[in-house]
Amino acid sequence: MSVALVGAGPGDPDLLTMKAARLLATADVVVHDALVGDDVLALIPDHVERIDVGKRVGKPVPQEMISTLLVELGRRDQLVVRLKGGDPFVFGRGGEEALALAEAGVDFEVVPGITSSVAAPAAAGVPVTHRGVSAAFTVVTGHRRAGEPSVDWRSLARVGGTIVILMGVTHRRSIAAELIAGGLPAETPVAAVRSATTDDEVVVRCSLADLGHAAIESPATIVVGAVASFDLRCLRSGAATTSLR
Ligand SMILES: C[S@@+](CC[C@H](N)C(=O)[O-])C[C@H]1O[C@@H](n2cnc3c(N)ncnc32)[C@H](O)[C@@H]1O
Repeated sequence: MSVALVGAGPGDPDLLTMKAARLLATADVVVHDALVGDDVLALIPDHVERIDVGKRVGKPVPQEMISTLLVELGRRDQLVVRLKGGDPFVFGRGGEEALALAEAGVDFEVVPGITSSVAAPAAAGVPVTHRGVSAAFTVVTGHRRAGEPSVDWRSLARVGGTIVILMGVTHRRSIAAELIAGGLPAETPVAAVRSATTDDEVVVRCSLADLGHAAIESPATIVVGAVASFDLRCLRSGAATTSLR
């Protein structure tokens, strides 16, 4: 029938869109990533075929193989749900899969999901924009891929507003050094949120100068800027918070 490229949101199944939940309930096969949490996968009926193509460290499933699989499945008379963490088009390689399906003449649709770029800051009580404090936010990857141009962190430091970094845990030390070299004050607030909206959620707050040796584990979203000092979670409890300040 067709392939639906569906965003699963940041982890909490309550943050799925209604359309995503409906597609999961009616799918014939679900192809999912490692970052899609167990609580979301639990919504898939038992009779539905599941294929885990999670890209775990050391055992990546090549993107071409995933796209080929989607094309093959999409040619069957079935509803295929391609389930991705957050939003499929935010560092999710959904664009490549959509192109492969389009080139193969397979019908598809894109169902946006709540991206961790906004859900993780929100989980820590951090508004990515705030009147009088930050009028913009930039979402950027901290992951470096051989052969691709790396982010110009020094220029980014001069853009202003909030910087939201995905996949930045491994290189956080050099990223912080580059942002400081680009002009951001060493004391710029940072909030890092790991596994936001799940039972494993951890929030770490520090300064940009301390980011390099802050205890942060993947998957985490790192927020840099004045808004990172906010903690508007007054009615929430249960999330672990550590501070280096
Ligand atoms: C390959 S990117 C995919 C992003 C995803 N498409 C989205 O829109 O959120 C994976 C990165 O997203 C961030 N991420 C995903 N889920 C997260 C969560 N629950 N909490 C914090 N960061 C998360 C982390 O930076 C992780 O390394």
